[in-house]
Amino acid sequence: MLSESSAAVVAATLPAVQAHGEAITGRFYQRMFDAHPELLNIFNRSNQATGQQKAALAAAVVAYAEHLTGGSSVPWGPILDRIAHKHASLGITATQYTIVGRHLLTAVGEVLGDAVTPEVAAAWDEVYWLLACELIAREARLYTVAEVPENGSVWREWRVVERTQETPDVVSFTLAPADGGPVPGFTPGQYVSVAVNLDAGRGQQIRQYSLSGRPGAAHWRITVKRVRGTAGAPDGLVSTVLHEQVAVGDTLRLSPPFGEVSAIGDGGPLLLVSAGIGLTPAMSALAHLAASDPERPVALVHADRAGAAHALRDELPGLQEGLPNLSVRLWYEDAAGGELAGLKAEIDDGLVDPELIPLAPGAHVHLCGPVPFMALVRGGLLRRGVPTERIAYEVFGPGMLRD
Ligand SMILES: Cc1cc2nc3c(=O)[nH]c(=O)nc-3n(C[C@H](O)[C@H](O)[C@H](O)COP(=O)(O)OP(=O)(O)OC[C@H]3O[C@@H](n4cnc5c(N)ncnc54)[C@H](O)[C@@H]3O)c2cc1C
Ligand code: HEM
Repeated sequence: MLSESSAAVVAATLPAVQAHGEAITGRFYQRMFDAHPELLNIFNRSNQATGQQKAALAAAVVAYAEHLTGGSSVPWGPILDRIAHKHASLGITATQYTIVGRHLLTAVGEVLGDAVTPEVAAAWDEVYWLLACELIAREARLYTVAEVPENGSVWREWRVVERTQETPDVVSFTLAPADGGPVPGFTPGQYVSVAVNLDAGRGQQIRQYSLSGRPGAAHWRITVKRVRGTAGAPDGLVSTVLHEQVAVGDTLRLSPPFGEVSAIGDGGPLLLVSAGIGLTPAMSALAHLAASDPERPVALVHADRAGAAHALRDELPGLQEGLPNLSVRLWYEDAAGGELAGLKAEIDDGLVDPELIPLAPGAHVHLCGPVPFMALVRGGLLRRGVPTERIAYEVFGPGMLRD
């Protein structure tokens, strides 16, 4: 809890900090990267360049201050879990919180100037460390469960044992630990971070990829869509390296599996709704259930540009054999030629209509796809009476959906 004296100071200075959020964020990153260029290898440079969620860190501190001073009733547990899982997958350490804290608070002082008295600085320092301690504690638990050695690294080398071109834009990598050690378990919906070295000494970048195979299998699998730059924007840094440079026999640096969103719910009917490359958690869930709970009623709803763009589609007939209560409904923007031999599916032309999504009473829902797609489907399901807490979703980027 924030001390009473700090709470009053934070409440009084919150509007000024909020009003200068962008300037503070800009100053913060500039200072931090100048002092610690090695952190450029941990932060997502494309998010920095586009400004997309660049402000996430500072904005979270401000939102937490609002929460501590009674100005918001947002439940923080799920937000802290999401950040902690993401941080753990990046190998963030407690020491790095000192670096971030120092530069963030100095940036506040630089932007707000004389308004930041020693009393104001101490109050914001308290907010930062309350939040930091919550995250550090959660991350420490995650590292312990993942058996990351104390003061050790999250990174482990994995060898590519198979590479499969699923569609022109999507490739799967099947991976085995390079040290021959055991393959850790995971829950469908969890992801790994992949760290790759960029060409020409441009350092390292890290991205997350959901595990698309069956937990308990002898290998892991990730399925990666190649991100092409449009309208003058550059091609995706990591997906391009994976598509163009990674072959069978090469190794990749992977984190243990993390991620707070389960794609299988807690028993009962399951509705998996995905679009495009957002199908990876659903495919892992189906493989898992076929092996562990084959009678489970499951509805798979997937939206894609066309049958030929629908990655891993060839696996659906086999999964239907293993899951007799699996129904499949597909929406292809262009449904011509979308049928697949052996697959029992309803196929519609055009975009997903949330009203037509099959909904069993009491179903647990898992969504994954572009944010506007998930917002549309989630809105439709909420209107149809599905309680919020039964709808889990995964955003393939920073952030969460807003109500
Ligand atoms: C939990 C989670 C799970 C995920 N699972 C999967 C998965 O299973 N499969 C999968 O394929 N992906 C998945 N992703 C997405 C993945 O992590 C990457 O975000 C994705 O591969 C793109 O990374 P990239 O490095 O190729 O592109 P980035 O380099 O990150 O580029 C992203 C976008 O930014 C644009 N951009 C970059 N710089 C600029 C600039 N200066 N101006 C304008 N635009 C710019 C690029 O053009 C591109 O469109 C997941 C993400 C998360 C968070
Ligand atoms: C109290 C301190 C911190 C807060 C409130 C915070 C908050 C956040 C938030 C909200 C996200 C986005 C999560 C998502 O939705 O995906 C995030 C991601 C991230 N954080 Fe933190 N963070 C803190 C400390 C740190 C530290 C100490 C580091 C390491 C130096 C760090 C590095 C990152 C990185 C690399 C990402 C991934 C996104 C990107 O690369 O742009 N954070 N953090």
